Amino acid sequence: MQRDLFAFESQNTPVKPVNVASVPQRSLFRYPGGKTWFIPRLRQWLQGRIARPKLLIEPFVGGGIVSLTAVFEDLVDSVLMVELDMEIAAVWETIIAGKGEWLARRILTFEMTRENALRELKKEPNGLHETAFQTIIKNRTFHGGIVAAGSGFIKKGESGKGILSRWYPATLAKRIRDIDLVLGRLRFYHGDAFEVIRNYRDDRDVVFFVDPPYTAGGKNAGNRLYTHFQVDHDLLFRVCSELAGDVIMTYDNSEEVRYLAVKYGFEAKPIPMKNTHHAEMTELVIGKNLSWMMGVDRVSESSYAYKNKKYGLAKTQLV
Ligand SMILES: C[S@@+](CC[C@H](N)C(=O)[O-])C[C@H]1O[C@@H](n2cnc3c(N)ncnc32)[C@H](O)[C@@H]1O
Repeated sequence: MQRDLFAFESQNTPVKPVNVASVPQRSLFRYPGGKTWFIPRLRQWLQGRIARPKLLIEPFVGGGIVSLTAVFEDLVDSVLMVELDMEIAAVWETIIAGKGEWLARRILTFEMTRENALRELKKEPNGLHETAFQTIIKNRTFHGGIVAAGSGFIKKGESGKGILSRWYPATLAKRIRDIDLVLGRLRFYHGDAFEVIRNYRDDRDVVFFVDPPYTAGGKNAGNRLYTHFQVDHDLLFRVCSELAGDVIMTYDNSEEVRYLAVKYGFEAKPIPMKNTHHAEMTELVIGKNLSWMMGVDRVSESSYAYKNKKYGLAKTQLV
């Protein structure tokens, strides 16, 4: 990766990475690619609007920190969360179907050991709620919170605590019970993001937060993180550009993404964040109008250069 392409960021982006410890954690999941760093921006975006949005749709909801925060902080009337992954969906469906208390108690009464976890995961689940419990076990005991096939138990973990290092039953139960308090404002759909985006295409009262799995520059990171990692990004940009309501997308800061943003008439701004390995990097916030994001310069990519050099020579411009 040519570092000089990114040199503008440190000179022109006078923003520090978000201290994620300062953002209330609402989600049950440890989520690869989780959007905690976006939360201060979410508040700016939604509070800065003339009319408060009626509905926020999150078509790739994953751990759902954005949707949950929008409701808990009363930034929108309600949210519609969408997820294709059957195991993640089982957790949301269980809670939304009113079985959150069952899940909370199951977590509180489970004695977490490697043997017990293995035994639990070998069981044939008898209903969605049991799949939900298995998913929570995997998410909390597998390396990096990765539930997708090929993942496995944390080996050393925090202070050598191994499998117990991310198992916080009381915290998880509290988060589920807190979500129970706002159930009337949450909806969940187990299905395809594109279908839902298209269904709400002409609705001006809806805002979308779109955070798809992305495999930057063909590095294929996404297919280890998620069961469903393949998305037609060109098509996603196109359907998002056709929405009557406002939309924000977040993506890795890659040349391909900057090219797609320009191609479909979006603005893009780089935001510093820390990845799970605590390395500082930037992600792009992409939207129709990012004037509410003060103090961060827009970037654009010369589509001519992108097309002609395949990831090599394109010039990043500040506009
Ligand atoms: C980058 S993650 C979202 C992370 C989320 N923003 C968070 O903070 O936890 C992308 C999610 O999209 C899901 N996904 C992939 N393809 C999908 C599709 N066609 N429709 C709905 N969800 C999809 C994946 O299973 C994954 O959970």
